[in-house]
Amino acid sequence: MEKRELLVKGKAKSMYATDDPGCVVMHFRDDTSAFDGKKVEQLERKGRVNNIFNAFIMETLAAAGIPTHFVKRIDDRDSLVRRMTMIPVECVVRNIAAGSICRRLGIAEGTVLEPQTFELFYKNDALGDPMINESHIAAFKWASLEDVATARELTFKVNDVLKKLFLDHGMLLVDYKLEFGNCDGHVLLGDEFTPDGCRIWDAETREKLDKDRFRQSLGNVVESYELVGRRLGLNFD
Ligand code: TMP
Ligand code: ASP
Repeated sequence: MEKRELLVKGKAKSMYATDDPGCVVMHFRDDTSAFDGKKVEQLERKGRVNNIFNAFIMETLAAAGIPTHFVKRIDDRDSLVRRMTMIPVECVVRNIAAGSICRRLGIAEGTVLEPQTFELFYKNDALGDPMINESHIAAFKWASLEDVATARELTFKVNDVLKKLFLDHGMLLVDYKLEFGNCDGHVLLGDEFTPDGCRIWDAETREKLDKDRFRQSLGNVVESYELVGRRLGLNFD
């Protein structure tokens, strides 16, 4: 496999073409961004930690029967993934209230949400990722409603698998964001699953171990990502 030209530079990752038209390289940078790109910093080691973390989660999800774009981890910062047409929508599940739901609905952080909530956001930094529903996706032809239904079903399946995985290792999966794409007529989980795009708390102390440490300037951001990974059995040495 040969890595070729840069296709897209996102806020934390860059995508490169390869000599295989069906696959692209996902490169994890140290750039860390929050608030729709308004706060950006380079955090040493973060790209490597997230690449290793993401590979483990994507393999865990695939083993549980969830179709993903992930093919294999190539090296410290690169992974090979299937080329997809991305659906410009973010699927967010919340098991515990934190972040924007607290501001929007006046809910206290830490409130358990039973059943868990499912929200859709339009992926557009300039607009601040506004919340949408299925009717917007249909009207603007961002995806078929059938594909949205599949994405929603897969997002809940991911919750079953990962809530248990984190709890088994002393952590709470508070919320997370997933992105999906279309590949050869199939909806696949795309993007990444790392502490950059979810909230994870220590189950005992409720200490924040995710990107909220960066958003709220709590320090030890990458150290916390590594702690989560090590608890799951990963080795970052
Ligand atoms: P929120 O509380 O800001 O709405 O975010 C909910 C979860 O989804 C949180 O873990 C962060 C993640 N998320 C992203 O990673 N990127 C996004 O653009 C959005 C809207 C949410
Ligand atoms: N990941 C999103 C962003 O960078 C939301 C956030 O983390 O605040 O804008």
